Amino acid sequence: MSKILVVTYSYTGTSRLLGKMLCGMQSWPMAEVRESQPRSGWTGTWRCLMDSFFRRRPAISEIGPTLREYDAVVLISPIWAYRLAGPIRTFVTSNRDQLRDVAVISVMGGSGAPNAVAEIGHLLGRSPLMSTAFTSHEVEDGSCAGRLQAFGQAVQTAEDSSLVMRPATWSPRAA
Ligand SMILES: Cc1cc2nc3c(=O)[nH]c(=O)nc-3n(C[C@H](O)[C@H](O)[C@H](O)COP(=O)(O)O)c2cc1C
Repeated sequence: MSKILVVTYSYTGTSRLLGKMLCGMQSWPMAEVRESQPRSGWTGTWRCLMDSFFRRRPAISEIGPTLREYDAVVLISPIWAYRLAGPIRTFVTSNRDQLRDVAVISVMGGSGAPNAVAEIGHLLGRSPLMSTAFTSHEVEDGSCAGRLQAFGQAVQTAEDSSLVMRPATWSPRAA
């Protein structure tokens, strides 16, 4: 069975809550991206906005687990000003050589997820394995549960299939 790690960053707690739900459903481990200079209050919110406007990469600490040991990482990130949250931008940029397959979950008020997925693809130099998005409302009232479970199972199935299925078997060039 493939090894999958969930990596979250959360400013106000919603992405962390979603990460814990996903890990509980799939029995996957979770690691959190933490900032060297944590943010709070209106200055913290202002920093979030500036990070997005200028695509800044705020300093973060090491997350702990060795990323190369995992077949896939599921990234869970809030959306700030229609873009990827800055600390996840830093995480992807600093670890792109260690990351194998990447799946993305965006958590948001209502819009901006496609921009975040596109930015992660750009930073990695390849498209994420799969992606989805939830509103903070769906996370808080638990209505995300069915779709979250289906997403988790899809990631696990895709990873397990790639262990047993040789790409050449299905390649038209192999015929
Ligand atoms: C500074 C800031 C900017 C935000 N910008 C957006 C946005 O552009 N689109 C959106 O749908 N939600 C936006 N949100 C809402 C968050 O994405 C949403 O509340 C999310 O659940 C926060 O995740 P967290 O609790 O894990 O930090 C913004 C929140 C903050 C603090």
